[in-house]
Amino acid sequence: MRGWSGFSKGDTQVVKNGAADMPDCSTELAGLKFANPILTASGTFGFGAEASGFYDLNRLGGVILKGVTREPRMGNPIPRVTDCPSGMLNAVGLENPGIDAVIDCELPPLARIYKGAIVANVCGFTIEEYTEVAARFDASPSVSLIEINISCPNVAHGGMSFGIDAKSAAAVTRAVRRAVRKPIIMKLSPNVSDIVEIAKACETEGADGLTLINTILGMRIDLRARRPILGNVYGGLSGPAIFPIALRMIHQVYKDVRIPIIGAGGVSSARDAVEMMLAGASAVQIGSAALVDPSACVRIIDEFPALLTELGATSIRELIGTAHKI
Ligand SMILES: Cc1cc2nc3c(=O)[nH]c(=O)nc-3n(C[C@H](O)[C@H](O)[C@H](O)COP(=O)(O)O)c2cc1C
Repeated sequence: MRGWSGFSKGDTQVVKNGAADMPDCSTELAGLKFANPILTASGTFGFGAEASGFYDLNRLGGVILKGVTREPRMGNPIPRVTDCPSGMLNAVGLENPGIDAVIDCELPPLARIYKGAIVANVCGFTIEEYTEVAARFDASPSVSLIEINISCPNVAHGGMSFGIDAKSAAAVTRAVRRAVRKPIIMKLSPNVSDIVEIAKACETEGADGLTLINTILGMRIDLRARRPILGNVYGGLSGPAIFPIALRMIHQVYKDVRIPIIGAGGVSSARDAVEMMLAGASAVQIGSAALVDPSACVRIIDEFPALLTELGATSIRELIGTAHKI
């Protein structure tokens, strides 16, 4: 059975909500129940509390923090962001204040206002850095889950991403698994030829779930200046342009791994989110859509009940992976 929900179709329930029977939009991960499957994508929601002016954060299924390294990082030279048809490119370069400042200054304000699951996002340039940062979050009572971003460059191997081959992805998973007790979610890079092999390696080494996908490497050039637009030259493509790629990878991985999948990549409506769930995702992250419209997450959450009713579903969990049953 998949660790994410443990629910079968027979467990579905209709939540009574005033006069109308509302479909049940909840999902579950490693024993943690989420009121709905919508989580903020790392790096697009800061450390959470700063977004509390837009809406009640407790509407969110989960909050995923911006990526955190051991030391503070200034990030890449500007420009760090540019637009492109159906998406955006970013090369922020993991700017963050470092683990000490995040534990002391960023987590407490969020934990005071947000009562749902807080997911830390861990970045590292060595395996030791991943384990150290993950262990610090493991010791923090405010953090429920730890997402490990393996798209970071491995300094011991010429700066190639940890996520590009099964061996290095397995090595990070194994080391972090030994260092922490909380559930770990490995966030995979789509810039690979065989995502299934990497997903299976993470599962074998003890990952509790997978996030699919991070951004896809791209670039843009300024015509007049005849130079790359981004200060870092290359950046990560996100937004609707990558949705079909994310969907394909979720579908491929779901066939071969048993641990739950969190979908990410170009979701901007409940229809997109449900499509990802039909492919095999148990929950979905919203990134670029919330940079365009800060209320995107709550709009999507609000769209679910009518969509589920239209689809004849009483629970969102009964949809997970059902596109495979043909
Ligand atoms: C500005 C920006 C910063 C990001 N920073 C991180 C990060 O720190 N850690 C991480 O794992 N992913 C990071 N991502 C990737 C997103 O979490 C997400 O996987 C990706 O953008 C695809 O989702 P979307 O199309 O909904 O944006 C970042 C994305 C953007 C646009």
